[in-house]
Amino acid sequence: MSDLYSKIISCGSYLPEKVLTNHDLAEIVDTSHDWIYERTGIVQRHIAAENESSVDMAYNASLKAMSLAELRPDDIDMIIVATATPERKFPSTAVLLQNSLKIEKAFAFDVNAACTGFVYALDVADKYIQTKIAKNILIVGTEKMSSLLDWKDRNTCVLFGDGAGAIILSESNKQGILSTSIGSNGAYKDLLTVNIDSEFIEMKGNDVFKIAVKTMGKLAMSTLQKNNIDIDEIDWLIPHQANSRIINAIAKKISLPREKIVLTVDRHGNTSAASIPLAFDDAYHNGSLREGDLIMLEAFGAGFTWGSALLKF
Ligand code: ACO
Repeated sequence: MSDLYSKIISCGSYLPEKVLTNHDLAEIVDTSHDWIYERTGIVQRHIAAENESSVDMAYNASLKAMSLAELRPDDIDMIIVATATPERKFPSTAVLLQNSLKIEKAFAFDVNAACTGFVYALDVADKYIQTKIAKNILIVGTEKMSSLLDWKDRNTCVLFGDGAGAIILSESNKQGILSTSIGSNGAYKDLLTVNIDSEFIEMKGNDVFKIAVKTMGKLAMSTLQKNNIDIDEIDWLIPHQANSRIINAIAKKISLPREKIVLTVDRHGNTSAASIPLAFDDAYHNGSLREGDLIMLEAFGAGFTWGSALLKF
């Protein structure tokens, strides 16, 4: 077996200053704190300023990750940004971020797999390290979901938030990423979408809920089987933070105690591709993640797309 691994060596995050609580939302749309909290587990979300883009948020998160890793711009040789809310149609968010960070020698591109974007980016980055093309990769999930929300539609505007999370994935001879797995099925394209001729998210919430639970439950089991490990060996599940009911249903399906789940949806809402790196950073900074911990990442999003990663911290 190869002793070349890719390993997460640092993380960073950024949340916009403005906090919008469920009570604030109840003043602008026909909803209530109790309805939102009972159905989703969300209490508040952060909302970017009008002039704050997904690039600006990615920049702030990346600076922290690079500083924690003690890496200079010249040390980064590849940048992948996962986003569905780019600042421009082109150039990519990754290239705009590269310019803000004054990183010259890297190559940079975006992936769009909606809420699964970060896991897709991790899957790609791992392969670039395994094939020795890159040594230090900056991976960022950044979203300005508020730019896609119809604040008159209570079915969707209560669910999402803005923010960015970044990690540095580096070549290592210590175990890091143990496996990744990604998948998609475009037959579900209309259940969760922002159509080209529409400004806003359209979603069939009930259908999304059921398919998300079924798919993520199966994915978690197959990730364990593929790595020949038992659920008891998992120290942390860091799932995409869409809805605490979806997360709890998955935990029940795979018999994982709730204390082993990193949960930030209460404070962040659903930040799409940013949600896993934001949750990762939150767990790192509150001291939950310890060196050697076995961590499973799991995501599901529009497409539908889905993905998992198993890693040693
Ligand atoms: N406040 C008050 N009432 C509301 C609200 C609201 N914000 N939104 C909907 N309602 C009403 C509906 O109009 C409906 O009323 P009616 O019975 O009079 O018609 C009632 O509440 C029930 O609506 P449902 O849609 O059946 O409610 P449900 O229990 O399914 O919860 C929810 C809706 C929270 C969207 C749920 O379906 C869900 O979480 N789905 C997953 C969607 C998701 O997470 N998407 C994120 C992207 S995908 C991903 O990241 C995994």
